[in-house]
Amino acid sequence: MARKSVLARLDAAVDDFCRRTRYFREDITRGRARMFALQHRLNTRHRNSVLKLKVATNCPDWDTRIGILRACSEEVIADHQHGGGRAHWEILEELGVRIGLSRAEMRAAQPIRTTRIAWAAWEGLMASRHWLEGVVANTCAERANVPGYGTGVMKRHGWFGLERHRWGKLFKLSGEELEFFELHEEADIAHSDAGWRAVERFAKQLHMEDATVAACEQNLSVWEMYLDGIGAAGDRCAAR
Ligand SMILES: [Fe+2]
Repeated sequence: MARKSVLARLDAAVDDFCRRTRYFREDITRGRARMFALQHRLNTRHRNSVLKLKVATNCPDWDTRIGILRACSEEVIADHQHGGGRAHWEILEELGVRIGLSRAEMRAAQPIRTTRIAWAAWEGLMASRHWLEGVVANTCAERANVPGYGTGVMKRHGWFGLERHRWGKLFKLSGEELEFFELHEEADIAHSDAGWRAVERFAKQLHMEDATVAACEQNLSVWEMYLDGIGAAGDRCAAR
């Protein structure tokens, strides 16, 4: 039997991540949603202003490098295409306000223990690895926003489609009020497709198929820890 293609192996890693991660499988609660807004605002800022830029720096392919910088700029500076000129973390801040967090609370938030461990792990997986492994690290979690992985609502609408669905039910928010998740279904499919296409092309060219798949699996394990850490911390805060 022919060996599976790199893309099929990468897709299998994303599918496994979507099926096994407790944060996706367990119900969302007010405590978990609040913790997600606090931590993910910090995480998106850190990844897109530090970690992904290291990957861009290491990347010798001009188009791929500029693609990374453009995506990071939409995340941390301004997204004119999908976000009306606001950065994604600013849109997440607006969502935080809608679920009862104050801006002061969000701005004072510190990364929890598991978020800090995730950043340290990603530093190792993104800053000082071959740039192609870094590109995989940049794109593998956004890939879960593309429909087709996992089961149920997630399979039909992607990770943020699932979040939009369950946050909407829990907080009685309209589609427009859940803009943060909706814009990612569009923006991340565009970011992720560019990344995924580049990965396929370069993995073959550089004979790095196995390293690429391993990088995808490792990065998604860090995402699993990051998200389950948010779940656990959200439960602790709610119990207090
Ligand atoms: Fe984003």
